Amino acid sequence: MMSISRRAGLLAVGAAVLAISTAAHAQTREVKIGYALAPNSHYGAGANAWAASFEKATNGQFKFRQFPSSALGGERELLEGLQLGTVEAAIVSSGTLSNFVPEVGVTDIPFLFRDINHARSVLDGPIGQDLLGRFKSRNLVALAWGEQGFRHITNGKHPITKPEDLKGLKIRTMENPVHITAFRTLGAAPTPMAWPEVTGALQQGTIDGQENPISVIASAKLSAVQKHLALTGHVYSPAMLLVSPKFWDSLNDGQKAAVTAGAKEGAKAMRQFVDDIEKKGVDELRAQGMQITEVPNKAPFQQALSPAYQQYASKYGKELIDRIANAK
Ligand code: PAF
Repeated sequence: MMSISRRAGLLAVGAAVLAISTAAHAQTREVKIGYALAPNSHYGAGANAWAASFEKATNGQFKFRQFPSSALGGERELLEGLQLGTVEAAIVSSGTLSNFVPEVGVTDIPFLFRDINHARSVLDGPIGQDLLGRFKSRNLVALAWGEQGFRHITNGKHPITKPEDLKGLKIRTMENPVHITAFRTLGAAPTPMAWPEVTGALQQGTIDGQENPISVIASAKLSAVQKHLALTGHVYSPAMLLVSPKFWDSLNDGQKAAVTAGAKEGAKAMRQFVDDIEKKGVDELRAQGMQITEVPNKAPFQQALSPAYQQYASKYGKELIDRIANAK
């Protein structure tokens, strides 16, 4: 039998442990992070890596709470939430970014990047870092460039191998002026729409198709609602990891460095995910019944886009576009 004094001692230790853990818990700050896709997507991979790195570096002072699958609304609402400080962190595509920071639209120009390494080195270099810096004055804190991959076109009507095949097709685009101009110039009927509405619109046939990278087509299971996938690779699709100014301003210098390093880890995890899915995703989508069309010759698309390129040059400056295109 345990003596009364030993039992009292154990109770006192238990109470002390409870008090310490309650105090530690009270000090843990929640970081709400929103993104558009499922937890098993490149966005989920980015959010997990960001959380793991930041939580570890700050010894559990912070805990990420994830809101995947557009649970906090579309990407525009998410960015507005960051501006208002109702959400602390987000990972978004470049879809609506240029509505907040117009200069960033230069990265959305079709066929600007030769390949994924070209895109990564420009975004990680002075041009990309300068663009990140411009978000501060628009009440957003951009920490790193993540990634989705190159965008391809899916539709329910017919295979696409040349620009003429796009004639009249209602293609959902992001609410992105550069993409809208491109699809209009190619002869399609671009239909800008927020992501949460897209699967329903495809199911109901109010749009014929959409365009997104393999990472999205696979994780959003678009093979269930689209028959044809044309590997146009018409534009690189960056993503961005951001926090709200309210959250940022509440951090000390060490915590700021830790959340920034974590965002870079998140971006790295997104890129790793994209590298993997690019290798196996097309075969998986074929096995799910999609009819895949290779589009090795991009020149007719680039030629058809000439009038759009003139508009981009007057908007973003030929010098900057050439600097990006010619970067090694
Ligand atoms: O097409 C889009 O809107 C974006 O690529 C998506 C799917 C929301 C991912 O950010």
